[in-house]
Amino acid sequence: MSCLHTGKVLSEGEGDKWCIESQAVLRHNRPVKKGAIVIELENVAYSYGGGELLSEVSLKLAPGSFHFLTGPSGAGKTTLMKLCYGALLPTAGYVRLFGADVRGLDRDDIAIVRRRVGVVHQDVKFLDHLAVSDNISLPLTVSGRAEDAAGGDLDELMNWVGLTNRADALPPELSGGERQRAALARAVIMSPDVVLADEPTGNVDWEMSQRLLRLLIELNKMGKTVLIATHDLGLIRATKAHVQARVLRISNRRIQLAGADL
Ligand SMILES: Nc1ncnc2c1ncn2[C@@H]1O[C@H](COP(=O)(O)OP(=O)(O)OP(=O)(O)O)[C@@H](O)[C@H]1O
Ligand SMILES: [Mg+2]
Repeated sequence: MSCLHTGKVLSEGEGDKWCIESQAVLRHNRPVKKGAIVIELENVAYSYGGGELLSEVSLKLAPGSFHFLTGPSGAGKTTLMKLCYGALLPTAGYVRLFGADVRGLDRDDIAIVRRRVGVVHQDVKFLDHLAVSDNISLPLTVSGRAEDAAGGDLDELMNWVGLTNRADALPPELSGGERQRAALARAVIMSPDVVLADEPTGNVDWEMSQRLLRLLIELNKMGKTVLIATHDLGLIRATKAHVQARVLRISNRRIQLAGADL
């Protein structure tokens, strides 16, 4: 048997779990077909209670696309990211995640979205009493896939982000850059369809930022949709040598496609 939602071939024990999810997906008429827009904002506005921070924002992230999000500090990049994974609801307009209006999502749907979207938060938080490796594999553990962490994937990922020798450390013992690397590893451990990374290289040196970028580029080449908020124009230029990346800029509350001069 294979899952309607993911197409994944199911073992006996898995069947129920995934089929329950599939029903939730079908209930909301969520597109299961390939090629559907994964994240769509239509005429979105957002306000934290004062004036509008974002106005008339329309944006479509197609599957397999690679976008950067730039703009001055305080322009609303993190806010836009939060709208893109349902952590905030728009004050006007529509946000559709995998084809479903965020306002109609129930708790189960949100859980599915969280599984399909890996997020690197700008203010990354860990469980401080758990070792770094356990924090990174936590998404697998909570979704009942702890056995996958025991396979080589966790080790390989920890090695890629240069944290193998920090695997047993506790999060408060990590440097800022090590925290960011752990955050990226945790965001991609579930092999999500979409990776949203908010300043993922803000605290790491150029060499490490290139290494993290390569991980995101490889994921994109595997078909994952990537959106990175960054101030780092060097990072954007380096990416454009490898993939077709588009640059979005928030300016005066609106989003624009930045020119080819970047
Ligand atoms: N929870 C909140 N309540 C009220 N105002 C907020 C809240 N979160 C953010 N803001 C304000 O909204 C504006 C945009 O914040 P946001 O974090 O989205 O900007 P940003 O573009 O990500 O900035 P940076 O580049 O510094 O990370 C800022 O002025 C910020 O102070
Ligand atoms: Mg921010």
